[in-house]
Amino acid sequence: MSEKLSNEELSKLPFMNSNLDLEKRVEDLLGRLELKEKFKLSSGTKFFFTKPIKRLGIPHYKMTDGPHGIGPHSSGDSVCTYFPVGVCRAATWNPELSEKFGVAVAQEVRDIGYHMLLGPGVNIQRAPHCGRNFEYQTEDPYLNSKLAVHCVKGIQSQRIAACVKHYACNNQETNRLTCNSIVSERALQEIYLPAFKATACEADAWSYMTCYNKVNGVYGSEHKNLLKERLMEEWGFRGFVVSDWGATQHIKNTGPCVEAGLSLEMPTAIKYTYKNMRDALDEGKFTEEMLNENIRRLLRVMFLTGVFDDPSTIPPGSRNTSEHQAVARKIAEEGIVLLKNEDNFLPLDINSIKKIAVIGPNANKKMSRGGGSSQVKPPYEIKPIEGIQEKCKGKIEIVDTPSEADVVIYVSGLNHRPHKDSEGSDRKRFHLTTSLINRINQAIQENPKIIVVLISGSPIGMDWIDKVPAVIEAWYPGMEGGHAIASVLFGDVNPSGKLPITFPKKLEDSPAQIVQDLEVNYDDGIFVGYRYFDTNNIEPLFPFGHGLSYTTFTYENLNINKEKMSENDTIIVSVDITNTGKRAGAEVVQLYVQDVECSVDRPLKELKGFEKVKLEPGEKKSVSLELKKEDLSFFDEKSNTWKAENGIFNILIGSSSRDIRLEGKIEYVG
Ligand code: BGC
Repeated sequence: MSEKLSNEELSKLPFMNSNLDLEKRVEDLLGRLELKEKFKLSSGTKFFFTKPIKRLGIPHYKMTDGPHGIGPHSSGDSVCTYFPVGVCRAATWNPELSEKFGVAVAQEVRDIGYHMLLGPGVNIQRAPHCGRNFEYQTEDPYLNSKLAVHCVKGIQSQRIAACVKHYACNNQETNRLTCNSIVSERALQEIYLPAFKATACEADAWSYMTCYNKVNGVYGSEHKNLLKERLMEEWGFRGFVVSDWGATQHIKNTGPCVEAGLSLEMPTAIKYTYKNMRDALDEGKFTEEMLNENIRRLLRVMFLTGVFDDPSTIPPGSRNTSEHQAVARKIAEEGIVLLKNEDNFLPLDINSIKKIAVIGPNANKKMSRGGGSSQVKPPYEIKPIEGIQEKCKGKIEIVDTPSEADVVIYVSGLNHRPHKDSEGSDRKRFHLTTSLINRINQAIQENPKIIVVLISGSPIGMDWIDKVPAVIEAWYPGMEGGHAIASVLFGDVNPSGKLPITFPKKLEDSPAQIVQDLEVNYDDGIFVGYRYFDTNNIEPLFPFGHGLSYTTFTYENLNINKEKMSENDTIIVSVDITNTGKRAGAEVVQLYVQDVECSVDRPLKELKGFEKVKLEPGEKKSVSLELKKEDLSFFDEKSNTWKAENGIFNILIGSSSRDIRLEGKIEYVG
């Protein structure tokens, strides 16, 4: 092994010159690495770091969880902002907020001296009771892609690498280390891959994490088709692929992982031990050029994230600032979904209520420390009861007994214990436990003026719903959650969240179930979530895109700028939205496309555009959304290409997938 270079010698090497072209720096450093050092760089140490190459001044490359804030387990016990979870962020339908979250969380990564965030998690919420749905965003590939692209852009604007995970089809936790997701090419193309593709093509994501499971018989970390052929060659990804932690343990050989393009095995060498690497190389199982390419990718991201640059030239870090806490609160306020509000039961009038009971198992519970790798240790966490107490201080008395109160706020739902919303296991039941249901019913009996606030990361069966006037889905709303919940309950914030996932009435209605077998057949194909419910005319409890407001909006003047669309056209669909109520509010205008006649089965409608528009009382705004050929297309398995067939497409504009307010049409003439 060559001698360690002195700091002075190092500083004169071309790769240390930040004015030099990125690729030249990468090649210079790569060219200096000895084979043994390349092996060393291929696997991790200390659970979240790469191994340093001291001779060349390559430090530990440091990665930290997770998708809604920095985890203490991976960051040396750092105290960091606990942002609302992924599904809450998605419920905002606000890409700009997703980007702000990305910026804020990346600043925290920089502040603790790390380089990469293990997130966002973009697996599709296929089964309603998947344990990790709370970390993911949505059942819809379009919404998923838009939010993920902005999130990655936000993170990487700070020169922190995003690590988009878990690539691909890790849609259940049961047997996640060994199960085989059997998925059609069409479902991959239309449902499961779009957010991975969009983050590569539109946001230039610098890293991807493989899944634990197999996809069509091959483990994610050795999946040449998913990694090398699609991600790298087709989508132009220039960063590196890291295995999920321990995801290589059931893989037989080293060679296919290197060949597939797995640069880094975490958390330690399993397939990428010195001996395995040496033997596989000697036996011709991979070539040194393949290894070089994997290391080149890793080094490239080191340069992109400023590892070898003067720290004063890279964006500074910050942590637990009031700005970050404000972002957390904003996401919670915009992500909370008002599911039901009979006779405008909400918002509560602070001046006319004397006594409120705030009860239920989740009223006084912190949620930041649970859920597996996505836990966060915040400086504080406002629990629902605390937010409500603060709001009511000096105005409304908080009592414990429903019968004594004018109004009851009942906070229930799930938590992050195993078999609830938690990594490593899936929910066992769709409804709450009998004892929790009994407790809700008991409270209703004592006082039917009750608002149920749900804390959960996935849909819950609600047999009791007809007996309560109001229900709020607050997800896991982060460290400012209690404040956000109180703001919504008392009308300081007008709710504008919309469901990013269908809430079924019962689990059997769902097209996808958690499978105990090692073979997980994605028989639902492309009919995931509302694509299934709508096409099969099954009434959900709450549809995709649903969410009420304290004001009302009218939709009028649908205008489609052309009647016919040809191959390269962009169609502009515009519509006027007016706030016809007495409060300022925000509406998410949703555009769905319906292919009237097609040679293959297609969903009844598919989301292809949306915009969140803020309106003062009486205010009217025009919203314009664009449609291109790709928005009309499906993946044709016969020709193995995306295809739009000539004919009529209905354009549906609505306030949810089941509340379509205006309809128009275009003809596609390819
Ligand atoms: C999880 C990943 C996480 C990693 C590191 C794995 O168990 O699946 O999402 O980033 O651990 O903590």
